[in-house]
Amino acid sequence: MSFNSNTITSQKGKIAIVTGANTGLGKEITIGLVKCDVKVIMACRNIQKAESCKQEITTAISGAQIEVMELDLSKLSSVRSFAKAFTNKYKQLDLLIENAGIMIPPFTKTEDGFESQLGVNYLSHFLLTNLLMPTLNNTKDARIATTSSIAHKTGQINFNNLNSEKSYAKMDAYRQSKLACLMFAYELQRRLSKAESQVIAVSSHPGVSKTNLFYNLPKWLQLVTTPLVPLLTHPPEKAAQAMLYAALGTDIKSGDYIGPTGYRDMIGKPGKIQPEPHAMDKDVAKKLWEVSEKLTGQPFELV
Ligand SMILES: NC(=O)c1ccc[n+]([C@@H]2O[C@H](COP(=O)([O-])OP(=O)(O)OC[C@H]3O[C@@H](n4cnc5c(N)ncnc54)[C@H](OP(=O)(O)O)[C@@H]3O)[C@@H](O)[C@H]2O)c1
Repeated sequence: MSFNSNTITSQKGKIAIVTGANTGLGKEITIGLVKCDVKVIMACRNIQKAESCKQEITTAISGAQIEVMELDLSKLSSVRSFAKAFTNKYKQLDLLIENAGIMIPPFTKTEDGFESQLGVNYLSHFLLTNLLMPTLNNTKDARIATTSSIAHKTGQINFNNLNSEKSYAKMDAYRQSKLACLMFAYELQRRLSKAESQVIAVSSHPGVSKTNLFYNLPKWLQLVTTPLVPLLTHPPEKAAQAMLYAALGTDIKSGDYIGPTGYRDMIGKPGKIQPEPHAMDKDVAKKLWEVSEKLTGQPFELV
């Protein structure tokens, strides 16, 4: 039987962090989780937007437990402050859902000098996972879910131009960042299993869903592709099912990759899927891990 988050039994007592929870897929993930009685920490860069989203959800769903905490993934200092504030308050973390992301912005650098897509989509989530590892290890059956994309298929980790130092091709940088999120989940799974940690690392992608993510797409392209939207995309509440399956599915195992199973992986019911073989490359994943430790300035402590 296919996964449907509405059929999941109460998960009362569980705590989740959802990054980028105030809109798009993050908002739908938050709704799916609170409906199952999970307490959600909405980790967002814009507190005003997040509070208004929280208000909307708590009005619609009675008993929804939500707390807003500030996290700006374009600043490692903010990742550190968020992790500190969270761990000061909570001794348990059942679900770390690394959803926030940006796509094809004009070239900008994060506060720490990273190309913005690599920094926001991947490197900050790498550091966040690292800083929250002790709390995840303290929690029975904790899960970390990274967010990838169909874009990983044509992505490559370009160690010679990782931060677009030499040239910036915005779509290539997005593909690289989403491949990095997927390779991180696999490498994390291998390292956790070697360290005999109980923590599960998985990844998922939502297929295609019309959200603010496409804001930077040229307006003419948005217009031309409008007739295809009902055919080749699915609404955020359906797209988020893949991420909710990764977070809540009872048959999920460390190393699983979840995504829509319909036309070209773009739409349809979520299921376990296979990535492109290059996403499983252990040598590249190991090198990426080591580079990420250097760039984030923190050795990754697994247990
Ligand atoms: N939509 C799709 O078709 C699709 C396909 C494949 C993968 N994905 C992935 O799914 C995830 C969610 O995307 P979406 O479609 O829901 O996009 P979205 O509607 O644009 O939402 C992105 C979220 O990330 C947040 N965010 C952006 N920069 C941030 C930063 N510096 N610090 C903290 N949060 C930040 C945004 O906050 P603000 O509201 O403040 O901007 C927003 O909450 C992304 O990782 C994306 O790559 C989406």
